[in-house]
Amino acid sequence: MDAAPHSNEARTVSASQSEMTELILPNDTNTMGNLLGGRLMHFIDLVGAMAAYRHSRRPVVTASMEHIDFIAPVHIGDLLILKASVNRVFNRSMEVGVKVWVENAMVGVTRHVASAYLTFVAIDEQGRSVPVPPMRIETSEEQRRFEDAGHRREQRRQEQDRKRQNVIEKTRAEQ
Ligand SMILES: CC(C)(COP(=O)(O)OP(=O)(O)OC[C@H]1O[C@@H](n2cnc3c(N)ncnc32)[C@H](O)[C@@H]1OP(=O)(O)O)[C@@H](O)C(=O)NCCC(=O)NCCS
Repeated sequence: MDAAPHSNEARTVSASQSEMTELILPNDTNTMGNLLGGRLMHFIDLVGAMAAYRHSRRPVVTASMEHIDFIAPVHIGDLLILKASVNRVFNRSMEVGVKVWVENAMVGVTRHVASAYLTFVAIDEQGRSVPVPPMRIETSEEQRRFEDAGHRREQRRQEQDRKRQNVIEKTRAEQ
């Protein structure tokens, strides 16, 4: 049976995986008929939020979009397919990975066009961050993503420490 809302029971990755399909129309594109990067980021944010919302069963906010690769252009008339899954749950945040493909429905070809990692934070009715239920890993691929997410978090922490140290040193030098 499904875990009740707000229960702390572990949830599987597959239970929150989310998918979205968009037909690319003129409003989504630049003057060359290519999908705008900002529009693609909007779709990525939406599908990522769906996975985080499903996992946490709480409203979520995007804390960061940390890495995005635009691998190939997307054109008017393409079908954009986005898939999101929770890579790792920390305490009050979740890293979600989003992978994007285009399908040319005329010839039935699908190709990978973008990938991104985002961090979502679950919040309560007052907008305060709240703990997120743990996840249950079921496959070796999920285990690999879980470990990679841990390395990325450690890199972010080191980068934040470095920036903080720079501010301290700059302030000292100005005194
Ligand atoms: C995200 C937000 C709720 C975090 O608030 P906060 O007071 O820093 O919360 P906390 O210190 O309790 O941290 C909560 C979690 O957020 C994570 N977090 C905070 N800022 C983060 C950032 N920039 N990147 C990644 N994670 C972040 C913390 O690591 C923590 O996660 P953890 O418990 O799993 O380690 C707050 O900064 C916010 O509301 N930001 C605006 C969100 C928004 O409007 N997004 C849409 C963009 S327009």
